Amino acid sequence: TTDDDAAGLLSLLRAVPDHPAPGITFWDITPLLGDAGALARATEALAVAAQALPGGRVDLVAGVEARGFVLGAPLALALGAGFVPLRKAGKLPWRTVRQDYSLEYGKASIEAHEDAVPAGARVLVIDDVLATGGTAAAACALVNRLGGELAGVVFLLELLSLQGRAALAPALAGAPVTSVLQTP
Ligand code: PRP
Repeated sequence: TTDDDAAGLLSLLRAVPDHPAPGITFWDITPLLGDAGALARATEALAVAAQALPGGRVDLVAGVEARGFVLGAPLALALGAGFVPLRKAGKLPWRTVRQDYSLEYGKASIEAHEDAVPAGARVLVIDDVLATGGTAAAACALVNRLGGELAGVVFLLELLSLQGRAALAPALAGAPVTSVLQTP
């Protein structure tokens, strides 16, 4: 993305103060999703960022519910990969593996089907926002427990002030991370 492209996409993200709890700023991507051109540019930029990661092929894109689904399916199509949903606990119908984690505003769990990742498949994790890094770290841990090889992690937006990359680092085991947009 050029600086102009990034500025245009950033202008379509809405920072909502005190949601879902006092003191938390929620970055709302729905204005970007609702703009056809911006959605196309954002998904293209995610694909370019993913293809620039060192390490080679991606077999599966694993998206974190809910906004990682919206961005993850077009990314999987662009990369010629399949898609794996990492869902909030209790949603998936088959046998699951669960990973608990902490959020800025409490605790949460994500789950995947236990057979979602063939042994040794290379899995790229995607989510809309990197905040504290807890969610993405849980997603990476889940990929490992499912028998996948972590190809990397991509975000649409990285909130630099929360230093999520540092929190995420232990879960990466050397896999690369990238983000299309950043806010201070
Ligand atoms: C948001 C966002 C990421 C996560 C980032 O999801 O979509 O998944 O928080 O925060 P972290 O880096 O501090 O873990 P949220 O939990 O609001 O779920 P939602 O997408 O279902 O609204």
